[in-house]
Amino acid sequence: MSRQDSGTLALGALARELLERHRPRTIGLGSGGAAEAFLRGLAPLLRQGRGAALVASSLQIALVAEQEGLSALEHSPPEVDLVVDGADQVSASGALLKGRGGALLRERVLHAAARRLVILVEPVKLVAQLNAPVTLEVAPFARLLVLAELRRLGAKPSLRLLEKGYPRLTENGNLLVEADFGLIQDPAGLYERLRQLAGVVEVGIFLRPPDELYALEPGELCRRVNLG
Ligand code: A5P
Repeated sequence: MSRQDSGTLALGALARELLERHRPRTIGLGSGGAAEAFLRGLAPLLRQGRGAALVASSLQIALVAEQEGLSALEHSPPEVDLVVDGADQVSASGALLKGRGGALLRERVLHAAARRLVILVEPVKLVAQLNAPVTLEVAPFARLLVLAELRRLGAKPSLRLLEKGYPRLTENGNLLVEADFGLIQDPAGLYERLRQLAGVVEVGIFLRPPDELYALEPGELCRRVNLG
């Protein structure tokens, strides 16, 4: 059995449990590999008639839904019963780094709308304090200003590029900037400072701790992690 197949089985079991426990009528899906694996596990249950409307945080996850024969709403209702998402890092206090997939703007909306937020990550992403680069969604017009401001704040910023040097654009037509601050001692303070920069559309520091956090051990059942 491939790693993807065993992951889908494990996440299918988690999906079944979450459906039974929370009986969601709306399910928001983050973007990236973990969200996709969860959706692959969830899809057979939805096809068997456990009705719930899906809300997609990106075209990436909407396409996965489509492949699975499911449709997804593009607009978030004000409340979403259950939101399941991945993350790039999770600190011991439950702060998240997100945005490597570039879907951080809609993911932020879903986290705010979530009645219950479930985060799935590989164990290596569980850290005492956040220390990976922060992803920022930046309006193209503000690129030079934002890069200069980030350097002034002590970061090493870089523009995310695709092969051949094309800039990686978000679904909103914006740029993605990675800002390396080293160890992030005060995620809330840094979040506030970054949000205030003109031209910054979204910041990949997410302060709402997950209601449920799972470590995805390859080939095994998901392990629930308690935050400190
Ligand atoms: C999408 O914009 C991101 O926030 C992803 O949720 C995050 O990068 C985790 O992705 P993986 O599940 O692919 O590691």
